[in-house]
This record gives sequence, C-alpha cells and structure tokens, in this order.
Amino acid sequence: MLDKGVNVYILGIWDGHDSGAALLEDGRILFAANEERYTKRKLEVAFPRNSIIAALSASGISPRDIDAVAFSTTEFTKTLSRVFPWQKESYYLFRRRKMSRPRLESLRHYAKYSMTGVGVLPLCRGISEAAVRKELRHMGFEKFRLYAIEHHTAHAATAAFTSGFRKALVITLDGLGDGLSGTVSTFSKGRLRRHYTIPAKDSIGIFYEQVTNIVGMRELEDEGKVMAMADYSYPFSFGENRLKDFFTLDGLRIKARYGPLKQYDLLSRIAWSMPREQFSYMAQQLLERMLTKFVDSAIKEFGIGAVAFAGGVMSNVKANMKARNLGGLKDMYIFPHMGDGGLALGSALYANYMLNGTSAYPFEGAYLGNEYSTARVKDALKGTKGIKYEEDSDAPRHAADLITHGEYVFWFNGRMEYGPRALGNRSILAASGSDDVKDRLNLYVKKREWYQPFAPSMLKEDAPRLLHSVKTYDRFMTTAYRVREEQSQIMKSVVHIDMTARPQMLENENRDYRRLLQGIRKKTGYGVVLNTSFNIHGMPIVLSPEDALYTMKKTKTRHMFLNGYYVENKEAA
Ligand SMILES: [Fe+2]
Repeated sequence: MLDKGVNVYILGIWDGHDSGAALLEDGRILFAANEERYTKRKLEVAFPRNSIIAALSASGISPRDIDAVAFSTTEFTKTLSRVFPWQKESYYLFRRRKMSRPRLESLRHYAKYSMTGVGVLPLCRGISEAAVRKELRHMGFEKFRLYAIEHHTAHAATAAFTSGFRKALVITLDGLGDGLSGTVSTFSKGRLRRHYTIPAKDSIGIFYEQVTNIVGMRELEDEGKVMAMADYSYPFSFGENRLKDFFTLDGLRIKARYGPLKQYDLLSRIAWSMPREQFSYMAQQLLERMLTKFVDSAIKEFGIGAVAFAGGVMSNVKANMKARNLGGLKDMYIFPHMGDGGLALGSALYANYMLNGTSAYPFEGAYLGNEYSTARVKDALKGTKGIKYEEDSDAPRHAADLITHGEYVFWFNGRMEYGPRALGNRSILAASGSDDVKDRLNLYVKKREWYQPFAPSMLKEDAPRLLHSVKTYDRFMTTAYRVREEQSQIMKSVVHIDMTARPQMLENENRDYRRLLQGIRKKTGYGVVLNTSFNIHGMPIVLSPEDALYTMKKTKTRHMFLNGYYVENKEAA
C-alpha cells in the first residue's frame, strides 16, 4: 500500500528509448525535457542524468528536496537493459544504423520478438527498482520514495490529466510496454479506470514497426516516413489488400493472426514482391481501418464522445485523422509527447495522482524545457565569430517581414518545447506558399526525404478558412486535416501530396509567436507559416543559444532571431 500524504516535489524519469525527466511541484508541471537535447544523440536511451540535472537546476532545488521519484516499465527485457546497459547501447547503435549489422543479429531479432509476451514479474520489478535507485544514489539522491508505474498507466496519465476533459475515454496504443500494446480506460470525476487491455502479442504497433524495418527504414523512428510514402502508391480497395487478414477486431478485442516472428517473416515475403510505397500503403490502410474501428467500438461501448490518446501508434497523423472524423467522436486530444519519450512525465503525473489525488493540470503549451537568460545569450553572441547582432524589440514583426519576402529564418525564443515538435520556440520558419524556400530549406538545412511534407503553424481563428472539417482544434501538430482546395497556393509548401497538412493551431499560449503569425496575416491575409524543427538532419532539436549559433554557422543561414536579438550571419550562403 502506498504512503499517502502531500508530496511537494515529484520527479518522473524514463530511462529507455527517448529517455528524459519531468518535475512536478504541488500539482504543477515545472519542467520536462528529454536526454537527446543534452547528449545530442537523437532518441537517446541512456539514463537521463542531464535531464534530471536540468530539471533540478531550472527549479532551483537539489536532489535532497525530492520527495518521490517515479519511473516506468519493469518488464523482463527492460529490466535486463538496466542490469546490462551496454545491451541497450548496442541496440541503439544498431537500430540507428550507427554500426554494421552484428553477426548475431538474427539471434537478437529472435529474442526480441519471442519475448514480447513477457509482462511484469515481481522479481524484475525488484531488480529494476534496485538499478534505478543505484543510479539516483550516484547523483546524490538520498531519501526519496521510489514508485514503479506500469507502462500504459503512465501513457494514460499523460493523455487524461493534461487533456482538460472532465470526462473522457482514454486510449493508449503502442508497440509494447509491460506486456501490453494498448488499453482503454475512462476518466471521470477525477478518476482514471482501466477497462480493457490488448496483449503485446496482438500489437498493431509492432506490426507497423516491422513494416518500417522491412522497407529499409529505422524502426521506432521512421514510421512517419512510411506513412508519408504510402500516399505515393496507387490506391486500391481493402479487399485487395494482402495484409487485410493480419488482424481481426471483434468489439474491443484486437487479435493478431500470427505471432511476431511469423508475422515478420510473412511481411518480408509479401514486401519482396512489390514496390515499397505499395507495401507501405497496405500497412497504413490496415492501421487506419483497425484504429477507426477500435475507437468507434470504444465510443459506442462507453457512450463517451471525448477521447484522449497516447502511445506511439497515435503519432500516425493520418490514422488518427480518420478516427477524428468518426461521427461519434465529439472531441479529441492527443498528448503531444505520445511516444515513450513522454513516460517520464506520465510516471510523475500518475505518482501524484496516487499520492495526492491530482488529476488535472493546466497544459496550455508544451513549453516545459530549458530557457536562457539575456546574459547567457549575450555571452554566446560575443563568443561567435562571423556574425552581426543587435537587440530587436520587434522581432516577431521583423521575422514576419523576412518570411513574406521569401527568406527562411531561425526562430529561438523562450522555453524549449517538450516532445518531438517545435511549436514556435525552437523553430525554422518560412513562407507556407513557396516551393522555392521549401527546396532551399531541404537543400541546406533539413535534408529530408523528398516525400516528407513540412507542417504549418496557423492562427487558430484562421484554421477553418484554410482546412476542411475543423471540428476539433489541435495545438500540438498531432493530427492531419484536409486542406481546402482553394487554399492550395497559400499552403503549397506545407501540404502533402494527398492534400492534408499537420497543423499547429495557435491561440494565446505563445505571445511572440502569435504576433509573428499576425504579422504574416497582415501581408498575406492568412496567419500561417511553414514551421519545421530547429535542427540539422539527423540531430535533435537545438537546446541552447550556442547550439542555435552553431547550427546557423554550419548551415550558412543568414537570419536568426535569438531571444530578442536579431543575428545576421556574414558568411551566409
Ligand atoms: Fe509505450
């Protein structure tokens, strides 16, 4: 039984894929960030020391002030990686194609997919707790209570407690965690209750991960590329889909027809005989069908039309768009850091729910990471050669001017975003209606695959003029919308081949960014801009002013707005 009582500071940590830390104080989220930003290794897997240090120092506290620490996932394989950390490091390097294919790869493949069904064993939980405790002791943590939060419970907590809904269905879907690949819960009167689970062996997330791997991309990272590529296939009906029988759905019971090993084998054989885009199309079509039917069944069963989602599968913006358009769905929220990178916050939120009963948090924006003082910015500027800079009290207007004149700008302002998306504080911005600037961005900075679209940020009030069927508003770029045909010019650089876009709809959560969008609207009639994350290809989003300046020099970019300074690169291309 848990000790009840008021806990002031609760630290959440996640030490797996996309590790990170989050800090709560008295029912407020003080800080949340992921380790990749500090180590500069995308989707870092190492124990989140840097994120923990950043969380504590941003809040002016020390390890001694922490009352409780919560972490997630104690399944067998995760426990093994805690005891033998070199194991997860070597999988990380292999998965990211940073090392050649190991000789024992087929053994690893066999081990990975034959252990999917192993859930939480009491022994593993104890070993995991001891391993996490040891890491924390090394960092100076002495007296704290430690809580292990079940994987999907942590996902569900992020969705439910930050949604703003008073009553909602809470659905989690991912590859796997603690022996499960999905859950259905209800959230009502401040209580989160689980009703259904999907075992890991029936995981639609593992299916999609395998497809990603088979088409030659990186699993757990390039699933969005598979989704984008699918639209380059010629369309065909579900009846002709050779993957259609891989899953069945009866109410809320999803069943995979084959075990993960056999499934991989069969998928590889089918993929062998067709172009990659066609195979991707089949997988995407199956996922969309399963997800919409599943959500529809859940809405009907519980009679609740507001749905909150989390879990890696929900990052598929095309599949969740289909779910959003279901007749019974009245409102939808997808936690912006829906993948395992959000588990640090989820663990902390659930611990606070258990200990103090807190189940609702203000979550206006995802601006929960580091911020930098003017003195620090000045020092970084002084230490950089080949640039000119000046204070700029009207940066949003000046940035809007440059963008509407065909330039792209680096925009670094305030606190770093939590999650995979740049939401106007670590962003690269350009005109939404220009192919030319999109090509320049791709050539010099982003080097994205040609079929991957950029996404727009837009003023919330302009969204219905630019997009079809805006019945729910999305502040976090988590779902796709169909672009109105008559707006295809103004949306030229941010629309996918199928005429959808994945927008951020901005209200009042970011004053400077809003002013920038208003500046663009004055010139073009629409408050919309191309917004892509501030990073070089293959690198995480920038953290600090120094990172921003380094990226500017490296990409020979001319214009940057850096926390109230305008910076010009004298060596710009
Ligand atoms: Fe997960």
